[in-house]
Amino acid sequence: MSMQAHTDISTPAVLAPVIAIDGPTASGKGTVANRVARALGYACLDSGALYRIIGLLAIEGGVDQSGADGLCGLAAGLAPVFEDGRIWIDGREITEDIRREDVGAAASRVAAVAPLRLALLDLQRRQRRLPGLVADGRDMGTVVFPDAALKVFLVADVQVRAERRFKQLMDKGYPATLPVLLRGMQERDQRDQSREFAPLVPAPDAMVLDSSTLTADAVVAQVLQWYSGRA
Ligand code: C5P
Repeated sequence: MSMQAHTDISTPAVLAPVIAIDGPTASGKGTVANRVARALGYACLDSGALYRIIGLLAIEGGVDQSGADGLCGLAAGLAPVFEDGRIWIDGREITEDIRREDVGAAASRVAAVAPLRLALLDLQRRQRRLPGLVADGRDMGTVVFPDAALKVFLVADVQVRAERRFKQLMDKGYPATLPVLLRGMQERDQRDQSREFAPLVPAPDAMVLDSSTLTADAVVAQVLQWYSGRA
């Protein structure tokens, strides 16, 4: 599915319901968003992947990670293709590359640049289509889809999140150490929460859910229960 393929103005995009799932890194948003989307037959938007793509391109192209012009240049005409959990840009598969820790850190730096965030708004909003969209990120409920039918803010203890990420990286055979991951995660949380534009904060009408001691199944069940209560 190309992210540029959904610009058909005959689609009554405004009617498609959105479930916004926001929260800090490794809080389980991606897994939960995918599973909720699958359960409902909705599309899924991994907005963090967009910032990661810009982070990757900035690293590779030696582009200043705080410079609006260079970053907006990378975002212009960006047409990632998301298919079966894999991601391509310009025919190149970058599924694994964008999950690197250095790319995550770059994503968090470029995400603090307000003009880049604005440049990526339209691309994100174009994913809203019937029968519905589950969008995960940091500002889905506050900025990108403020009229979302359900807003969930998923949190988890930073130590638990670092351990989850450590396990994911080990499973994939990537080198990592827990203390380094923990420090990087704390830095990233701090940067995401304190940036001026679209900081990582729950929307006033968000349901906050702490997943530290919950299984993914339990979180998915809770989100679906909240959603069915609103439908
Ligand atoms: O969710 P993920 O860890 O893949 O996101 C990578 C980075 O992209 C985050 O640390 C955050 O800084 C940024 N991001 C954001 N807004 C979003 C999604 C991600 O600022 N909606």
